[in-house]
Amino acid sequence: MHKALKTSLTETLGCQYPIIQTAMGWVSTSQLVSASISAGAFGFLAAAVMSPEECEAEIKTIRAKTDKPFGVNIHAFQPGIDQIIDMCIDYQVAALSYGRGPSSKIVDKVKAAGIRCVPTIGASKHAAKAVKMGADILVCQGQEGGGHTGYTPTWLLLAQVLDQNLGVPVIACGGFKDGRGLAAALTFGADGIAMGTRFMMTSDSPTPDTTKAVYLKSDVTKIPVSTKLDGLPQRMVLNETLADLENASRLGLLMRAFKNGMKYKSQTGMSMAQTVKTAWAMASKTDMTLGQTMMAGNAPIIIQKAMVEGKPSEGVLPSGQIAGLIDDLPDCAVLIDQIVKDAEIQLKRIGG
Ligand SMILES: Cc1cc2nc3c(=O)[nH]c(=O)nc-3n(C[C@H](O)[C@H](O)[C@H](O)COP(=O)(O)O)c2cc1C
Repeated sequence: MHKALKTSLTETLGCQYPIIQTAMGWVSTSQLVSASISAGAFGFLAAAVMSPEECEAEIKTIRAKTDKPFGVNIHAFQPGIDQIIDMCIDYQVAALSYGRGPSSKIVDKVKAAGIRCVPTIGASKHAAKAVKMGADILVCQGQEGGGHTGYTPTWLLLAQVLDQNLGVPVIACGGFKDGRGLAAALTFGADGIAMGTRFMMTSDSPTPDTTKAVYLKSDVTKIPVSTKLDGLPQRMVLNETLADLENASRLGLLMRAFKNGMKYKSQTGMSMAQTVKTAWAMASKTDMTLGQTMMAGNAPIIIQKAMVEGKPSEGVLPSGQIAGLIDDLPDCAVLIDQIVKDAEIQLKRIGG
């Protein structure tokens, strides 16, 4: 293996290659994580959309398949968060990833247990704060990236963060799919890459074939950012449902949020009082309005239509723009092998 592929990321997380498979709700399940880590990447289980019971079952499934290290992704305001944190400690998972930061109490607790903290940031102003809070590795996601995303393109964000010399490994994220991208990120000064969409578009991801077919046909210019799903900028493939959300009035969006909120309530068993309490807790501790948090509660129903039920036109498809450049569904072993080979070719080409 080319020596440039051994970085502070592989050392810190104990994986073979400097490639992270990121957490994607209903996509980064035990099936995808066990495949990505067996192939030499470092994978995160998308536990932010799981109950503590589901999370524990998924951790056990990964452990039954491989002893390679992996991480868990959480959301600070998800129900059962304290139980999931204790579980990460009990099962000695290698890392915790998060977007909106959990409390410093949670970060201190997991770090004391030897778990690495790997936040994703989308703006350079959040980098120093995340490191001060305890980040061991920073994933910098540029605007090309899938799901919730910021406004700074990947290479510009990376330059801004690297220039701050924060003393932790910095990972490039948003728009990566191949060895060229990995070699470019390493030569740019990053310690590795993190990919979401590319891992979702593998034969190992649980995303239904009907939905994968839409991703395969997507066009790089038709994967816009919209705030209409949950009030926060999120990149998704433009389809009927997204166009519909974009055209809906504010009241229409809230009515939809309320209707789907009731459905979600019956799915999760959360009472209306609990739902409002969770929304209120989130609204009061973040800069989101109560309306936004109601819409956020609505989002899982719409996402699952595409990502779980296999009805892509009835749901939304979170996606990086890179989906427009992907036209195959290899398994993780083939994908990682090709990325490593291509990165080595590029690194040798420039004389490394
Ligand atoms: C289908 C999908 C679902 C996602 N769900 C989550 C999630 O639950 N939590 C999270 O932190 N990020 C989520 N993301 C963002 C990814 O983890 C990752 O940061 C992003 O996809 C990177 O950009 P790329 O797709 O260009 O590789 C999601 C992305 C996609 C494409």
